[in-house]
Amino acid sequence: MAQGRRAALAILEHGPRRPGADAAQATAPKRVVVVADSIGGRTRAVADSLGHVLAGSGATVTVVRLQEATPALLADADLLVVGTWTEGLVVANVGPSRAVRRWLAGLPPLSGLRAVVFCTSAVAPKGTLATMRRALEERGAKVVADAAFGPRDATARAEELGGALRSLLWPVAPRAAAGGVRAVAR
Ligand SMILES: Cc1cc2nc3c(=O)[nH]c(=O)nc-3n(C[C@H](O)[C@H](O)[C@H](O)COP(=O)(O)O)c2cc1C
Repeated sequence: MAQGRRAALAILEHGPRRPGADAAQATAPKRVVVVADSIGGRTRAVADSLGHVLAGSGATVTVVRLQEATPALLADADLLVVGTWTEGLVVANVGPSRAVRRWLAGLPPLSGLRAVVFCTSAVAPKGTLATMRRALEERGAKVVADAAFGPRDATARAEELGGALRSLLWPVAPRAAAGGVRAVAR
C-alpha cells in the first residue's frame, strides 16, 4: 500500500539545487495557479487541498476551473498545477478529460514555466499524466512533478504531494504568514 502510494507520486526534477538561501528564495514560486477540471468534485478537492498546502509556503495560490484559466492568469504564474479526472473506456482511449485535452491544445507558449500535473481516476490513469506532461512540455513548460490519485485517500495524498512540492520548490524555511489562497472558485 505505502509502496503504491509512493510509486504514484513522482518528483521528476530537483530544482533549486540549494545554491544558498538567497538564491533559492529568489527562484521560489511566488504565484501559483492551480487549474482543475472536475465533474464529481474529487479532482477539485485534491486541487483545493494542494492549494492550501502550497499557500503555507508563502506563495499566493489561485485555484480555478479550466474556463477561468486565461492566458493572462498563466502569464502571471511562477508555478502552474494542472489537474484532471481520467476520461476513457477504462482499457482504451484513456487520458485527461476531453475538456483538459482541448485546453492543453490551446495553451500559449509557457517558456520555462514550472508545472505539476495530477489526475484522479476510478480504475487506472494509464497515459493520462504522460499526455499532460507532453502537452505542457511542447509549449515550453518544465514539468517538475506528477501524481495520480486513485479512488481512496485522495485528500491525504494531496497533502503528501503538497508537502513534497514545498520541499522541492521552497527549500528555504516557509513564510507561513505571507501567502494565501487568493481565489477559490466553485
Ligand atoms: C465518462 C467517464 C469516463 C471515465 N473513464 C474512466 C477511465 O477510463 N478510467 C478510469 O480510471 N476512470 C474513469 N472515470 C472515473 C473518473 O476519472 C474518476 O471517478 C474521477 O476521480 C472523477 O473525478 P471528478 O470527481 O473530479 O469528476 C470515468 C468517469 C466518467 C464520468
